[in-house]
Amino acid sequence: MDYASPPHIPVMVDRITALLAPALRRPGAVLVDATIGAGGHALALARACPGAHVVGIDRDPSALALTRDAFAAVDDDASTLASRLTMIHAVFDQIADAVRSLGVDRIDAAVFDLGLSSMHLDRDERGFAYARDVALDMRMDPGVGPSAADIVNTYPVERLTAILRGFGEEPNARRIARAIANRRDSDPLRRTGELVDVISAAVPARSRRTGRNPAKRTFQALRIEVNKELDALAVALPAAIDLLGLGGRIAVLAYQSLEDRMVKRVLVAGASSSAPAGLPIEPEATKPRLRLLTRGAERPGADEVDANPRAASARLRAAERIREGKVAA
Ligand SMILES: C[S@@+](CC[C@H](N)C(=O)[O-])C[C@H]1O[C@@H](n2cnc3c(N)ncnc32)[C@H](O)[C@@H]1O
Repeated sequence: MDYASPPHIPVMVDRITALLAPALRRPGAVLVDATIGAGGHALALARACPGAHVVGIDRDPSALALTRDAFAAVDDDASTLASRLTMIHAVFDQIADAVRSLGVDRIDAAVFDLGLSSMHLDRDERGFAYARDVALDMRMDPGVGPSAADIVNTYPVERLTAILRGFGEEPNARRIARAIANRRDSDPLRRTGELVDVISAAVPARSRRTGRNPAKRTFQALRIEVNKELDALAVALPAAIDLLGLGGRIAVLAYQSLEDRMVKRVLVAGASSSAPAGLPIEPEATKPRLRLLTRGAERPGADEVDANPRAASARLRAAERIREGKVAA
């Protein structure tokens, strides 16, 4: 990956810093950034909370060097900043094992900034962006698991349809899946441009007139399937909340509705009583584990979206741990 030009701009970074910093004031506090990417959020938090240690996780191995460089490049406090950073190459559904491998049982804050970084979209050769004609791959951890080409060339039409509908909310899912199957019988799909052409020819003319690229939803769906993104999130969110000590805080930025719905469900369930209706006194065990810190999902302001269009679809939710006990998955 080429990281030479200015990398990723962290989204809603001031708001996330304000939400998480109160949990990271004490010396030795631990922040887990489960999607460290280019290190933008982690760096802002490390600078705002000089006693905090940052554990950075990313499944993309190139993110690790990038974050180390970002921490080392800050001149105000470079040596101490770098010494407060530990990087782990992992999928975030391994968050509990990753943290415990460092001898840490409890953390003070966690941040998830889901999806792709700008480096993936703008400069990557791994086939995430439909605007670039490159190999049809989409694996965030290169070489691990089936690629997007493996999926489009081997999945039965029914399964492809379900993925495009479920993960892409693609109204033309069946048409596109059939067109992919027809094409691959004679000539397997290898490049993003070939897939874009198949999709464009398959969708009705009115779908091409919306102004939105007709391949957008299919690319999102394939990326989610290739990287098992929702499966990983379904494990990681409750695991991260369980790791939080009392007063610990979690912030999650989602960029598409399937992820945001999952984040909302987990946080709202954690902030709700699980007691059956009508109990005269609520047992401790069913009281809420979380307090929501955001009302609904917070959105970036117009100025931020103007400066960083990638922020436009961001939805931020955050919560604080107020009671021990397991949070339901
Ligand atoms: C939007 S970027 C994060 C950018 C970061 N907050 C910053 O300010 O630079 C998302 C990062 O999360 C990583 N990622 C996505 N899903 C992941 C998963 N399931 N496990 C670990 N890392 C993941 C991607 O490789 C990418 O580097």
